[in-house]
Amino acid sequence: MTNAATRVAINTGGGDAPGLNAVIHGAVYAARGLGWQIFGIRDGYDGFLEPQNYPDGGLIELRRSTVREISHLGGTILGTTNRGNPFCRPTRQPDGTIKEVDRSDELIEHFRRNRLDALIAVGGDGSLSIAHKLQKKGVCVIGVPKTIDNDLESTILTFGFNTAVSFATECIDRLHSTALSHQRVIVVEVMGRNAGWIALHSGLAARADAILIPEIPYEIEKVAAHLRRKHREGKPYSIVVVAEGAKPVGGDVTVRSHEVGRADRLGGIGETVAAQLQELTGKESRCVVLGHLLRGGSPTAIDRILGLTFGAAAIDALLKGMDGVMVALNPPRIDFVPIQDAIAKLKLVPVHSEFVLVSRALDISFGDAD
Ligand code: F6P
Repeated sequence: MTNAATRVAINTGGGDAPGLNAVIHGAVYAARGLGWQIFGIRDGYDGFLEPQNYPDGGLIELRRSTVREISHLGGTILGTTNRGNPFCRPTRQPDGTIKEVDRSDELIEHFRRNRLDALIAVGGDGSLSIAHKLQKKGVCVIGVPKTIDNDLESTILTFGFNTAVSFATECIDRLHSTALSHQRVIVVEVMGRNAGWIALHSGLAARADAILIPEIPYEIEKVAAHLRRKHREGKPYSIVVVAEGAKPVGGDVTVRSHEVGRADRLGGIGETVAAQLQELTGKESRCVVLGHLLRGGSPTAIDRILGLTFGAAAIDALLKGMDGVMVALNPPRIDFVPIQDAIAKLKLVPVHSEFVLVSRALDISFGDAD
């Protein structure tokens, strides 16, 4: 890629995460500094696939003035969707049924028609898998790792995670006093579909009594035995943090609903665990679901810095002629890694990792032993 009149598109895909606007800000400032033009695609790829739905045609030119005031804001000024996969897009058929249709060629055609040279795809494993397929079809792509779940390989951190953990920690901190006052068990359900990073970090930071994560299937009787022992030893209340994707030994995740064209919606495990622990400990139990509160709000300083840096680094990657790479944090460096490696497998919590071992040493149960 040369430094001549480059036209770059940027989009945000999948669930939103605090720091998306910081990425946009970073990319726009860096691109404009080179004299390049940069455009935002609305709502993932919807701006290209359904341009008729947008008064601005689905593609907006981003200037420094457009993004000057956004880096501290949650959400994404471009909009996003987690049902917008152009390779299998749910499309209503003439007979009223919904069928998944591959519209990637149409998308690429739109890309070319707009004389775009490259795409910066900001997303998690789903959005980056789509970006990778587009790259294989000839689109120059740079990925930026986003997800509050922090489950992307090849980067130490994704932006959004720190904000989610900070907020979850603050919420759990607040629950200690009410749980103590009523001598209750409070179960806090946090997001974390496949990986328990949010539950582990917030549970450790806020000193939970038990943390249940997808990587370590739990036995509810073992969780209860752990809590009962702590009650006997003089701590009359309990806090249990459970990732939405946690599952009992031999059991499965708790699915709230199935929908065509998107991953199952998880949720409900917290209520189940609270009811079981009430039964098994004899303590009144309550469940608090933090859910989308973890995705909202203003990004922490760390997520702003990550977002701004990732956005600027994505432009730097294009300047250096790269294609098919993802920007990654590899302290102390910002690296460029093949998107293919980043999406090859999810980054799960290693069950013998330091933070798991430290938690156990601090008398936090994972429901696999008391
Ligand atoms: O990928 C991030 C995530 O927060 C998952 O933990 C969760 O399962 C999912 O998004 C929820 O997405 P939605 O906005 O579709 O409910």
